Amino acid sequence: MKKWMVLLIGILTIGFAKADEGMWLPQFLENLNEKRMQQLGMKLTAKDIYSINKGSLKDAIVSFGGFCTGEVVSEKGLVLTNHHCGFESIQKHSTLDKNYIRDGFWARNQTEELPNAGLYVTFIVRIDDVSAQVLKGVEPGMMENERQSRIDRNINELKKTTVLGDFENGFVSPFFDGNKYYLFITETFNDVRLVGAPPSSIGNFGQDSDNWMWPRHTGDFSVFRIYAGRNNKPAAYSPDNVPYIPKKALTISLKGMKQDDFTMIFGFPGRTTEYLPSEAVQQIVSVNDPAKIMVRDQALAVMKRYMRADEGLKIKYASKYAGIANAWKKWQGEVLGLTRTGGVQKKLDYEAAFTQRLNADNNLKNRYGTVLQDLNSAYKDIKPFGLTRDYYLETISKIELFVIINRLRTLKAATGKPNYEKEYAAARDKLTELYKNLSPTVDRDIFAALLPVYIEKQDPAFIAPVAKQQFEQYGKNYQQWAAALYGNSVFLDSAKVMEAIKTDPSALYALFDTDPAAQLVSGMAALYDTGITPKLNELQARINGLQRSYMQAQMEVLTDKKFYPDANSTLRVGFGKVDGYYPADGIKYDYYTYLYGVMEKYVPGDYEFDVPEKLRQLYRKKDYGRYGTNGKMPVCFIASNHTTGGNSGSPALDAHGNLVGINFDRVWEGTMSDVNYDASICRNIMVDIRYVLFIIDKYAGAGHLISEMKLTGGSGR
Ligand code: ARG
Ligand code: ASP
Repeated sequence: MKKWMVLLIGILTIGFAKADEGMWLPQFLENLNEKRMQQLGMKLTAKDIYSINKGSLKDAIVSFGGFCTGEVVSEKGLVLTNHHCGFESIQKHSTLDKNYIRDGFWARNQTEELPNAGLYVTFIVRIDDVSAQVLKGVEPGMMENERQSRIDRNINELKKTTVLGDFENGFVSPFFDGNKYYLFITETFNDVRLVGAPPSSIGNFGQDSDNWMWPRHTGDFSVFRIYAGRNNKPAAYSPDNVPYIPKKALTISLKGMKQDDFTMIFGFPGRTTEYLPSEAVQQIVSVNDPAKIMVRDQALAVMKRYMRADEGLKIKYASKYAGIANAWKKWQGEVLGLTRTGGVQKKLDYEAAFTQRLNADNNLKNRYGTVLQDLNSAYKDIKPFGLTRDYYLETISKIELFVIINRLRTLKAATGKPNYEKEYAAARDKLTELYKNLSPTVDRDIFAALLPVYIEKQDPAFIAPVAKQQFEQYGKNYQQWAAALYGNSVFLDSAKVMEAIKTDPSALYALFDTDPAAQLVSGMAALYDTGITPKLNELQARINGLQRSYMQAQMEVLTDKKFYPDANSTLRVGFGKVDGYYPADGIKYDYYTYLYGVMEKYVPGDYEFDVPEKLRQLYRKKDYGRYGTNGKMPVCFIASNHTTGGNSGSPALDAHGNLVGINFDRVWEGTMSDVNYDASICRNIMVDIRYVLFIIDKYAGAGHLISEMKLTGGSGR
């Protein structure tokens, strides 16, 4: 073959093989992505996905409680999301004899569906560009706080003049680091009821061990229903409410996915930072992630030791452990992935290309000449303060005695304020929950494990004098220090504390000055609030301004590149294709898992890998109904969609916009997609919709729910 042909084919295959990163705003798909999506196999137009003039897929997508995503799948307002998204609702309805966490829950009819105070779903009605109004009067040289108050004023003005329909709401969010502002008109429903959930042994199969991992076998889904007033409009909970008739319900495809099939994720990704300069990425890899991981290593090790030995402690600490371990495990994957893909070097290369192009254009050079250097150097300046922040915040949030004392300090500060009653109620609820699951012994050992980090790892200037003094006083022995603080702190006495805040807390507050634990907490806070916070705020403001200019500069300099805004919990579309990956040299992961993999992982009686008898039975009989394929039951699959936290529960849609899965996680090696997406190892994990339907129908016997849904394309068996 001629050399140029090899080259051309090379370029073409790179162009096609490379999946696309990005979390795109649905209103811009038509201009930015439609062609590319169709090239990857999509059979829809951008207007089928997002339109304000006709029904579109977006009308079936909801923000689930503000922290996850859900999708409408029936004309009676049925919503699918993840098990871990519905978990709090499932937990709240659970008791020892109606243990829905352990056994699952299935309403046999609508009257059995369970209301959830505080839970809501939000639809996006439309998205408008309001940048001109919001940025009116904002000048380039403005101080950050001056700029922000101008923007806040403009947004308030805008809110007054925005015409909202009945039951509509609106909010404005910044995009591209504050270069753009969009207004989201929303409709929120507050009566959302629990319809069904599998047992945790299916919905959270593999728990922490399998979390962030592929190959995965979790049936991570739960079922809810939106209720509306008799006029089909949002209404506060009432037994008289009726199932909501949606503008759009997704059609479900039973066809399954194969290698390279087009997929799309439609949902509410929470937060990413894709446009950081190299110095910031370097710090994530070598400073901040390792610091946070190290503190959590210590805390988790203590918890695990006690949880292994004591069933009661296992129950008390399970949920806390899962929460702390989730980010801890993600950060480790992030460091690994950034290291393996040369994330910092990729940034340096990008910066070199940017600088070259910038310098080639005098006009741009004059405007953005040193912005990149300035930004990198601002990050260098924030480095020691960022590290201290991570140590401090990780420490005070993992020692629950500190959390309790800080909660009480906040309550004290609210004394006499108009919102005191609200603060009191919040503190009461939070403290009740804290005490319920607190073991002073475990917490004491966590204290003894974390204080060495605070004392030994930091610049001495950042250590509170009272901490140094107590450390000396207790013989520079962390165990002894812990024993002294935990031996007789009144703040561990839940009865006394709860009674005091209910009646008269003044005597309790007086102990802030004498209780050594409280003295330590106050001293650490004082040093942080006066020595660290102001510096952090000042540097962060500088970084925000520079990051904004750098963003603008990138968009003006690299005119051939398409930019998507960082995730900010607003509605986005990611697209990609079904594909496996190489997690390490010599290993290739396939893109599908099956029920026999669940059986391979099965450990009878294990808290993570037990499998319910009924599911084992169905497996033995291969009783998969129309949901199986070639005698196998598909469970999960992966694709190259760019997702993040908040995308949990998002629909995975096929080329025709049919529902084929529910997104719930990412692969460990690729969690750095939050900072630097790399097509070679970034994959999102979805539960196959056929497994979801199989569990609802065959496992739970809730076939009446399936009858509500619109299914297409079965294998006909
Ligand atoms: N890692 C997933 C996400 O961030 C799922 C977490 C829930 N599952 C679990 N075993 N903790 O949030
Ligand atoms: N598990 C995440 C969530 O709960 C999704 C992710 O981070 O990929 O939103």
